[in-house]
Amino acid sequence: MSIQSYLKKYAPPLSGRTVAISGATGGLGNALCRHPASLGASLVMLDRNEERSLKFAQILKSEYPGLKTSYIHLDLEDISSVKEAALRLERDVPDYLILNAGAYHIPRKKCKTGYNNVFQINFSSPYYLAERLREKIAKRGGKIIAVGSIAHSYSKADPKDVDFSSRKKSSLVYGNAKRYLMYSLSALNDKSVAIAHPGITFTNITAHYPKPVFAIIKHPMKIIFMKPKSASLSIIYAMGRDVPQGSWAGPGLFNIWGRPSVKKLKTIAQNEYSHIRSIADKNREIIENS
Ligand SMILES: NC(=O)c1ccc[n+]([C@@H]2O[C@H](COP(=O)([O-])OP(=O)(O)OC[C@H]3O[C@@H](n4cnc5c(N)ncnc54)[C@H](OP(=O)(O)O)[C@@H]3O)[C@@H](O)[C@H]2O)c1
Repeated sequence: MSIQSYLKKYAPPLSGRTVAISGATGGLGNALCRHPASLGASLVMLDRNEERSLKFAQILKSEYPGLKTSYIHLDLEDISSVKEAALRLERDVPDYLILNAGAYHIPRKKCKTGYNNVFQINFSSPYYLAERLREKIAKRGGKIIAVGSIAHSYSKADPKDVDFSSRKKSSLVYGNAKRYLMYSLSALNDKSVAIAHPGITFTNITAHYPKPVFAIIKHPMKIIFMKPKSASLSIIYAMGRDVPQGSWAGPGLFNIWGRPSVKKLKTIAQNEYSHIRSIADKNREIIENS
């Protein structure tokens, strides 16, 4: 089935509706934006780099005549930017919010929340946005989709090192933050919030290897894994399908290839669930009060 036929079959009706996407300027975001645009939706691009975002909006408009776009500045490392973006989204509530922006191998630093930036970008800030907006989006019959990752399964939450600051491996630090995001949102048990993932697809996030290694693996990676255009279909699928608590939508074959399906997340022990929920509640308070 072609991508366009797939979208017609599985995406919710999007003509005249608004889809807000964080990280629109990224590899997955670039491909993702084109799906709702092709179905007649307007886009709200939540990006940290205005120039890049506006340039990309122009490209999209040339590809999809009549497309309406708007820009909201969002730097997930910066609490005031996150709160300002939340306010703007509350004033003009979109039908769908896709929490797509994320970061993997970046220089780590401590943020105002007290946690490192990887934790804040991948968990604290998107979780806060979901909490602030979910009821309002549900009232419009819409949905929030958070982009998770297979990397969430690499580790377990450690109450003594919540953001994994003492861990050296980027995969663990990133996976831990995604684990918090996925299980905290899952714990909300809210039909208007779903988790989806793209499997593995070649984007800037997968370009963090040392240069000589990257030069070698780049081409096979592009061949072996799905392109962002196909990998991003899981997110569209989650917009139009029920993704129950404790499940996620992602590529059907080994979580890496093929058309999307909904699968159960591996269950986690009750004490880890409770811990993640308590950190999520604390997180909201910290951001609210700062
Ligand atoms: N690619 C994969 O194989 C894969 C697998 C599993 C999950 N994911 C998830 O997919 C999502 C999209 O990633 P990608 O693969 O498209 O990677 P990417 O090409 O690196 O894009 C990441 C996006 O996040 C944005 N971002 C990073 N830090 C930010 C910050 N502080 N504030 C606001 N935006 C920020 C980036 O903005 P700039 O454009 O300004 O840099 C970019 O738009 C992420 O959540 C990632 O974890 C990807």
